[in-house]
Amino acid sequence: MKIEDLIISQISKKGRINVGEFIELCQFSNVGYYINHDPIGQKNDFITSPEISQMFGEIIGAYLINFWEKNIQREFNLVELGPGKGTLIEDIIRTAKINKDFLNSIKLFLIEKNEYLIEKQKEKFSKLNFKNVTWLKDFDIEDKKPLIVFSNEFFDCFPIRQFFKKNQWYEKFIKYNSSQKIFHFDAEEINDPEFFGNLAKYNHAKIAEISNSRRNYFDKVCRSIKNNKGIFLTIDYGYKTLPENFSLQTIHKHKKTHLFENIGNQDVTAHVDFDELITVANENNLKLELFSNQREFLLGNGIKERKKQLQKNKDQIVSKKIELDYERLVENSQMGDIFKVLITSCL
Ligand SMILES: C[S@@+](CC[C@H](N)C(=O)[O-])C[C@H]1O[C@@H](n2cnc3c(N)ncnc32)[C@H](O)[C@@H]1O
Repeated sequence: MKIEDLIISQISKKGRINVGEFIELCQFSNVGYYINHDPIGQKNDFITSPEISQMFGEIIGAYLINFWEKNIQREFNLVELGPGKGTLIEDIIRTAKINKDFLNSIKLFLIEKNEYLIEKQKEKFSKLNFKNVTWLKDFDIEDKKPLIVFSNEFFDCFPIRQFFKKNQWYEKFIKYNSSQKIFHFDAEEINDPEFFGNLAKYNHAKIAEISNSRRNYFDKVCRSIKNNKGIFLTIDYGYKTLPENFSLQTIHKHKKTHLFENIGNQDVTAHVDFDELITVANENNLKLELFSNQREFLLGNGIKERKKQLQKNKDQIVSKKIELDYERLVENSQMGDIFKVLITSCL
């Protein structure tokens, strides 16, 4: 079934669907964007930090190895959520060659829903000298070993529902006009008393973007860290202070688009509410190791020194490229501030 037809059939059953249901169908139905497409790269829709420079994965790798040396020092489960093209894990494994004990203690799990990307990751691993790897569609790891879990641009993929306040709270819905053959927004006043609990923290805000599926997923990983010990490092577009405007954005071929364009064929994301993730980590009694922007994390963990090493003995053109990639990752006007890093642990 074509994705538009699938959405129209869902709308006709209920009269309208909420924004989260619309995103879920666009991204995660069996014809959805995150199930079959290759989204990442210059020729595709967007580019991510590990694809910009090896420095990104090397700094994360060094941080995780250091944590393992201090706190784990035995066999453990290394888990990446949403590995994309597999570049970040490849850079981490290469970095891990500095500590063979760490490398030999890894049991690797890659959690990926996208069949196309799973194939790409398998191709990558067929060339790496690393065999202990399992692919899963969900975070369902039975094995009771300490955990090191990490993700980059994973939690921004979760569907969100959108609310706005005009004396009362309203929720945005999506309807279909069959004579004009167009999707359009509508809004309904919230009457469900249970939902007011969800909106309580937004009392002073004018808008809210809520993702229960993101919260539940994050909670599941935190619970697993609490039960097995370990660390959880996540990097994403996001905020701690509630934003004034909706953050939902759609990208196609590196350009901003509208939610109703390129349906099922473009990236749909929303900024992550890190305040909520920190609350979930606290509820699970995890220790907050760090919350900062990407710039502070990368600079605090040696990216400048690594850049200088990489530039040594390189010609001007290569050296300039390394400099520009570095700036893209750390400059506040580029990816340095909009991306946040949250690290929580249980020892
Ligand atoms: C924006 S890409 C980031 C890829 C990679 N981490 C990077 O930084 O290049 C999001 C990745 O998460 C995967 N993904 C999104 N939602 C997922 C889910 N609920 N379960 C498993 N994988 C998911 C996508 O297929 C993709 O690999």
